[in-house]
Amino acid sequence: MRHFVIAGLLIIVVTFLTYFGLNAAHLMPVEASAQSLPIDWMWDLQVKAMSFLFALIAVPMFYSLVVFKRKKNDTTDAEHIEGNTRLEITWTIIPLFVVVLFAYLGAGNLADTIRDSPDAMIVKVKAFQWGWNFEYPDYGISTLELYLPVNKAIHLKMESSDVIHSFWVPEFRVKQDLVPGRVTELRITPTLSGNYKVRCAELCGTGHYKMEQPVVVVDKAKFDTWIAEQQVLAAQAAATPEGRGQKIYESYCIACHSINGSAGNGPTWRGLFGSQVELADGTTVTADDTYILDSIQNPTAKVVAGFQPMNFKYEAAGITVEQLNDILAYIKTLK
Ligand code: CUA
Repeated sequence: MRHFVIAGLLIIVVTFLTYFGLNAAHLMPVEASAQSLPIDWMWDLQVKAMSFLFALIAVPMFYSLVVFKRKKNDTTDAEHIEGNTRLEITWTIIPLFVVVLFAYLGAGNLADTIRDSPDAMIVKVKAFQWGWNFEYPDYGISTLELYLPVNKAIHLKMESSDVIHSFWVPEFRVKQDLVPGRVTELRITPTLSGNYKVRCAELCGTGHYKMEQPVVVVDKAKFDTWIAEQQVLAAQAAATPEGRGQKIYESYCIACHSINGSAGNGPTWRGLFGSQVELADGTTVTADDTYILDSIQNPTAKVVAGFQPMNFKYEAAGITVEQLNDILAYIKTLK
């Protein structure tokens, strides 16, 4: 009996030490969304359960090792135990009850994080190798950074144009895969203004590590100003071929072609126009209007040396023949 009391007290002490130790490690970033509250509540409950289970196993083990150590010169057998039905029933029923309880709490928790809000603002998220594009259908703009008004329900409708990606802003807690051929959804109500990052949480190729872009949460007034600015920029862009070309680039071409000189799945567009391009068959061509338009329309005909042929079908992607000239105009600006 004395051993049970001592071990019991030690279990309580170790439970608290483990729990406060884990809490002091600050395992979670700040809570920046309404959805993070139920998730963190559940997390905290699980850390408490884990701390207790750790103590429940570790304390009796080390206590036995120390207290019931074989005495010197004691060569007798230990007491033989046949089994204990009552104990076995107990340690089956209690964990079963705990697991069912956590499943019940988890289901309610999941319902809280995906609950629909009728006045939610829709943002369409498009993921590609390797980056994100955000479209605001209510305002007719698309951007490379996700701007969100604080305390406003957001409904993300997400699509991938190539492989599986995963939308994850740790401060919002929620995470959702983007699956090619499907529209997946995520609901976020940002509650804390600040600068965050969306990062891809699914290994999606060699550029996975750089698939992160800014997420900015601002108050309503700042958000409205930003929207107005973006609409002006969009209108200006739409007025010129190179502006329209840039928007097409950011929605489609950016997945494979950089504009900063680095190679992606395809060659960079920086300094492309007018340059001498070495092809896989050993010949060299000048990147003029004809070469660039031909290469968009028939990507596997003149493959650049060092790259795999990629058969991008611009019409299937929704780009018109007229828009090809806008893309060409944009490429010409990338010196
Ligand atoms: Cu997209 Cu990893």
